Amino acid sequence: MINLSGKIALVTGVADNIGFGWHIAKTLQAAGAEIILSCHPRVQSILERYLEKERYLETRELPFNKGEFKPSKLFACDVSLDSEITSCFKHIPKLDILIHSVAFSPEITRQHIDVSREAYLTAMSVSSYSLVALSRAALPAMQNRSGAVLGLSYLASERVVPYYGGGMASAKAALECDARMLSWFMGQEGHRVNIISAGPYASRAAKAIGPVETMIDEAAKRSPLKRPITPYEVAHAAAFLCSDLASGITGEIIHVDSGYHVMGV
Ligand SMILES: NC(=O)c1ccc[n+]([C@@H]2O[C@H](COP(=O)([O-])OP(=O)(O)OC[C@H]3O[C@@H](n4cnc5c(N)ncnc54)[C@H](O)[C@@H]3O)[C@@H](O)[C@H]2O)c1
Repeated sequence: MINLSGKIALVTGVADNIGFGWHIAKTLQAAGAEIILSCHPRVQSILERYLEKERYLETRELPFNKGEFKPSKLFACDVSLDSEITSCFKHIPKLDILIHSVAFSPEITRQHIDVSREAYLTAMSVSSYSLVALSRAALPAMQNRSGAVLGLSYLASERVVPYYGGGMASAKAALECDARMLSWFMGQEGHRVNIISAGPYASRAAKAIGPVETMIDEAAKRSPLKRPITPYEVAHAAAFLCSDLASGITGEIIHVDSGYHVMGV
């Protein structure tokens, strides 16, 4: 049984009740953690509706009948701005778990060869460098020498996924490299840094890429498990990686993709 009682987790990149961040946050709370959420300023009022309105009560039900999802704090923080990261952490004196569930490219539908320099660098800043910046800002609050940092990546970091444009493939490769580098630096303080490489899932961000349902169906057909992943499968892996059960795992990329990444033609 995964027990995160007494731990405080900051889950970044939650915008609605669909994305991976929402499911990870709920699962960590169900395992006993106190949850702090952070979202992009432009989605704060949308997220507040999911957290407060009666009609979304069902989506706030925690897994394993553990009650209702209730984050202790919600911060608006644009992770491309160091000043916003700094002021967010002024209000977080203690932290055990940092979840990075953020990605953005302004040219996500533009093929890699056509991406502008500006969009490529924005994708890197929001989707990769923010893991470094958030980890650095989190370190003083991670007073227990057993913290966990977790980011979310995608197979396009290591294989050619032609439709995954806007510089996002490079951003995911950088994210994975950064996680390995951070595992060394944060490991000296006793903290672990890991990545989940998730299979395709119809979140808001994924729908911006294009025909995500086709991507999901095609990946499912070719996967050993012959089915798409669910967001709770990613959340369960996240809860494990952030728990003491994974105390010997750091610098790792774990695929939660029905096994799709092992396949050849
Ligand atoms: N959905 C998929 O198929 C899939 C597959 C593999 C990995 N991932 C990764 O999972 C993570 C979560 O994505 P998701 O699919 O759940 O979609 P999502 O839309 O729920 O999450 C992306 C989040 O990034 C936030 N964001 C964008 N720019 C930001 C900024 N400057 N500052 C703060 N927040 C910002 C958005 O507001 C949103 O909440 C991302 O890293 C994504 O690349 C997704």
